[in-house]
Amino acid sequence: MATVGNSTNIFWHECPVGKLDRQRLLNQKGCVVWITGLSGSGKSTLACSLGRELHSRGKLSYILDGDNLRHGLNKDLGFKAEDRTENIRRVGEVAKLFADAGLICIASLISPYRKDRDGCRAMLTDGNFIEVFMNMPLAVCEERDAKGLYKLARAGKIKGFTGIDDPYEPPLNCEIEIIQKDGVCPTPYEMAGQVTSYLEDKGYLRDE
Ligand SMILES: Nc1ncnc2c1ncn2[C@@H]1O[C@H](COP(=O)(O)OP(=O)(O)O)[C@@H](O)[C@H]1O
Ligand SMILES: [Mg+2]
Repeated sequence: MATVGNSTNIFWHECPVGKLDRQRLLNQKGCVVWITGLSGSGKSTLACSLGRELHSRGKLSYILDGDNLRHGLNKDLGFKAEDRTENIRRVGEVAKLFADAGLICIASLISPYRKDRDGCRAMLTDGNFIEVFMNMPLAVCEERDAKGLYKLARAGKIKGFTGIDDPYEPPLNCEIEIIQKDGVCPTPYEMAGQVTSYLEDKGYLRDE
């Protein structure tokens, strides 16, 4: 019997089919690919490209996209620091469940605070949290401004916008970094290839 947070008198119920059984079924290893970076840095683009590449190789993945989750699970949260923290904590917990289900869970969220990302890393064991830093200059993201949000933030119409008047803390220990080469951003296919190669090298695309 245990107390966890505000939950008292709770028991953990073991289930007969475990993660290893599911991984064997899927011929892959469950993990979380956590994509972090500024708005407009290409997180969703990489997530989709990676999802497509894995699907074509017969690997089961699922995308947890920050914007999409704010339509449902996290629609009660705003963008102040404690809401951002709770947003990331919840997505970390959901990602952990997907990884336990045996899936390659692709989480794409700005996730600006290092301690929040590290909190999600700590939820997973054995290197199963693979942090991908979209290291794109602010100027590139702002130039793209696909959603017109930078323009609004610069005009003071959105407050607390990451990179403008709210901090972004780059990872210190990420597994993968996506950078421009000679001022040119890799294509979505190339970005996905970089992550897929990592997954392949580390054995995530097979169950043994
Ligand atoms: N590798 C890339 N090369 C060129 N344009 C890109 C690349 N990745 C993303 N983009 C473009 O940048 C914009 C923002 O990308 P998006 O994936 O929505 O960013 P985020 O999810 O990080 O906010 C989109 O218009 C997208 O088409
Ligand atoms: Mg996005």
